[in-house]
Amino acid sequence: MNASDTLSTLAATVSAPSYVHHPRLLSWVRDVAALTKPERIVWCDGSDAEWNRLCAEMVDAGTLRRLNPAKRPDSYLAWSDPSDVARVEDRTFICSARAEDAGPTNNWVAPSAMRDTLNRLFDGCMRGRTMYVVPFSMGPLGSDIAHIGVEISDSAYVVVSMKIMTRMGKAVFDVLGTGGTFVPCIHSVGAPLAAGQSDVPWPCNKDHKYIVHFPETREIWSFGSGYGGNALLGKKCFALRIASVMGRDEGWLAEHMLILGVTAPNGEKSYVSAAFPSSCGKTNFSMMIPPKEFAGWKVTTIGDDIAWIKPHKDGRFHAINPEAGYFGVAPGTSYESNPNAMEMLKEKVIFTNVALTDDGDVWWEDMTREPPAHLTDWQGRSWTPQSGRKAAHPNARFTVSSVQCPSLDPDWDNTDGVPLDAFVFGARRRDTVPLVVEAATWEEGVYKAATMGSETTAAATGRVGEVRRDPFAMLPFCGYHMADYFGHWLTMGKAVPRPPRIFNVNWFRTDDDGRFAWPGFSQNMRVLQWIVERCHGRAHAVQTALGLEPDYDDLNWAGLDFPPEKFAQVMHVDGGMWKRELAAHDELFSKLGAKKPAALVRERNRLGDRLGV
Ligand code: OXD
Ligand code: MN
Repeated sequence: MNASDTLSTLAATVSAPSYVHHPRLLSWVRDVAALTKPERIVWCDGSDAEWNRLCAEMVDAGTLRRLNPAKRPDSYLAWSDPSDVARVEDRTFICSARAEDAGPTNNWVAPSAMRDTLNRLFDGCMRGRTMYVVPFSMGPLGSDIAHIGVEISDSAYVVVSMKIMTRMGKAVFDVLGTGGTFVPCIHSVGAPLAAGQSDVPWPCNKDHKYIVHFPETREIWSFGSGYGGNALLGKKCFALRIASVMGRDEGWLAEHMLILGVTAPNGEKSYVSAAFPSSCGKTNFSMMIPPKEFAGWKVTTIGDDIAWIKPHKDGRFHAINPEAGYFGVAPGTSYESNPNAMEMLKEKVIFTNVALTDDGDVWWEDMTREPPAHLTDWQGRSWTPQSGRKAAHPNARFTVSSVQCPSLDPDWDNTDGVPLDAFVFGARRRDTVPLVVEAATWEEGVYKAATMGSETTAAATGRVGEVRRDPFAMLPFCGYHMADYFGHWLTMGKAVPRPPRIFNVNWFRTDDDGRFAWPGFSQNMRVLQWIVERCHGRAHAVQTALGLEPDYDDLNWAGLDFPPEKFAQVMHVDGGMWKRELAAHDELFSKLGAKKPAALVRERNRLGDRLGV
C-alpha cells in the first residue's frame, strides 16, 4: 500500500472527513476508538449548525434546559451531578518520567503504572455513547504563539463548550496539514451505557476521577468528570499544565493570568498581565470600567484567565489569550461588580449550576441586591430567600464567547499578541499584604510572586478561607517542579532586554470590623493608573521594606472619599504578621527542597533584614 492508500484506509476505519490528512492523528483516533469502543464517532467541524444540533439533542436528553428566549436568547442551563461541581485537584496527576520533575506540589504516579490504570478505565468506557473528535487551536489560528490540540470526548456538553472556549473546528486541520504537532487530549465521563440503558442528564463517574498529564509526551487523559477544567481540556490541562512544560523547554511562559489593555487620555496604550488565584475577581478586573472621574481612561480586555507569553523580535514579551471565551464564576457577578460581563451574558450563553427563575431566566447570589421571591435551585429544588441555602452553586459558571464582551480589545485576536508593560500578582489576603507594591528588580518580583499566599475559595474543592501558598497563582496548574518553575521565571527575566515591571496587589484587606477596607472593582483603576504610569516612568514611588510603594498623593483620588488614614490602613505592614508571613515562605521553600533557586534565598534574606524580623 502506498502512503495515500494507508491514509484512506485509516480514514475509513475512523470515518474521518476527507479534509483530514494527518496519518498520526488518524491512527491515534483509531486507537482511542478501539480502546473506548464508542457506538459512533463524530468529527466536529465547529459550525453553528453543529452547535445548534448538539444543544437541541442535549435539551431532549435533559442535560440542557433552553432558557426563555424573550429573556435570554440562545442560552441554556445545565445542572451537573452534585458530585461533579469543580476541578478535582486531589485527582489531578502530573506523570512525568521522574517524580522529581513533578515536584512536591503535584500528585505524581509513575507513567507506566498510570497508563495501566488508564487503559483499564478507558477500556470500553464510551460504550453506547458518541465519541466526538474536537480539533481546536489555543490562540489565534496560525499565530506563532498559538498551539493546537485535539480533544476526543464522549460529552456533547464538552463539544459545545469547546466551541465557545477555543477556536474549534475544521480550519484547525488546515493548519495541522499532514504532520503538524498537536496535543492529544482524551476525555470520557466514564459512564458507559449498556444496551437499552437510559442515560442520566449529567453522566459522570462517582468512584473514579483522573485528570492526568504526561508532560514528556504532551498528552492529557481525563476520566470521570464532565465539569469545567476537568473536562474542557484546552483550558487548565493544556493551556497551563502541559503548556507550562512546553514553555520551560522552549523558552516561554504559560501563566494563570488575565491580560488587559489600558488606554490613557493621551492615547498611550499599555498592556498588563495579572495573576490571581481562582475566584479572586480576575474576570471583573479584566473587564473593569474606570470610575467616571477617569475621563479618557479606558480598559480593554484580551483575556480573563490564561496568558501565553513569548519573547518577540521587538525585544519585548508578547502575550496572547489562548482561549476564545470566558468560563467565569457566576456568583458575585452583577451590574455593580462587572457591568461588561452582565452585558455579554445577555444572549448565547451556557450557564452551569446557576438557579432558574420562574420565568425561565437565571439568577445567582449577588446578581441583584434583592433575590427573587422564588427560584429553582441548581439541584432542581424549590427555593426561597428563607431556604437558608445558596440558590446557585458557589462555583456555578457561565460559558460565553469573547466576542460578546463589550470591552474586548481590538487586538485580542492579533496573531502577534500584545506587548506587555507590567505583570501584576494579586491574592486574597484580609491582612499582611499591602494594597500595592512594585518590585524594584525582576528577582524581587519573582520572589513576591513565588511566595504569594491566598485565602482559598470554592473553585478549588475543600476548605474555604484558609491561607495557602499559591506561587504565581499556579499551584494547581504548574506541570512541573515548582522550584524549577521559579528558576525558569528568573531566566526569562533575561530573555528580553526590557522585561515588564512586576507589581503585587491586594484588593481584599479588611478593617477592624471585618469589612473590606478597599472598595475594589472599578476603584482598582486608581492602582492600575499608578502601575501603568510607573511603567512609563512618570509616577512617583517611595522605597519601603517591601519594595516601591505609592504615597497617598501618588494615587488619583478624584471622586472617591478615601482619606490618608484609610490609605495607611490598606498599606500597613505589621512586623508581627510579616514574621509569620516569612515563616510561611520558609515553609514553602523547605517543602521545595534543594532545587530552590539561590537568587530567591538571597531575596528572602534581604527581605528579612529590611523588615527586621
Ligand atoms: C478557573 C479556575 O476556572 O482558576 O479559572 O479555577
Ligand atoms: Mn483560573
